[in-house]
Amino acid sequence: MALVDEVNWSSYLACVDDLIHTEEVRSMRALPHHIGNTCYEHSVFVSYLAFRLARRLGWDYRMAARIGLLHDLYLYNARDHRNYQGAQCFAHPRAAVRNARALCGGLTPKEENIILAHMWPLARVRPRSREAVLISLVDKLCATVEAAHIWHVLRLRRLLPA
Ligand SMILES: [Fe+2]
Ligand SMILES: [Fe+2]
Repeated sequence: MALVDEVNWSSYLACVDDLIHTEEVRSMRALPHHIGNTCYEHSVFVSYLAFRLARRLGWDYRMAARIGLLHDLYLYNARDHRNYQGAQCFAHPRAAVRNARALCGGLTPKEENIILAHMWPLARVRPRSREAVLISLVDKLCATVEAAHIWHVLRLRRLLPA
């Protein structure tokens, strides 16, 4: 079974359709993330994988897809330290939750916690739902895969909306 196939990809896009084409989400294309990929590519990767796992587990897969896409919506170049105060590890979830709140016209406490807790256990905000634990774990898995350059063989870039 392919990780990325057209049927699952279409179901995924149906969950995030109103978000993935917004200027805010698209602007992550210009922001470098891990070596060789952008913040947008990383966010879609986390979002898609969390969607697949949550659906398999019978959890809230729509929320996993949507908040996974927004979990790193901090919208500044993290390589320029003048763009944030303190450590990026702690600063970026707070910026992401502010931007996601503005983009969605508000977030539920559960959605906010998913974003704020995604750096747990490095950051102190604890995940308060199974979806928050999932996003935190998937984020780390994706970061590892990206750093190891395995990301490219998954052909996710090929499917990204133009
Ligand atoms: Fe992050
Ligand atoms: Fe991330």
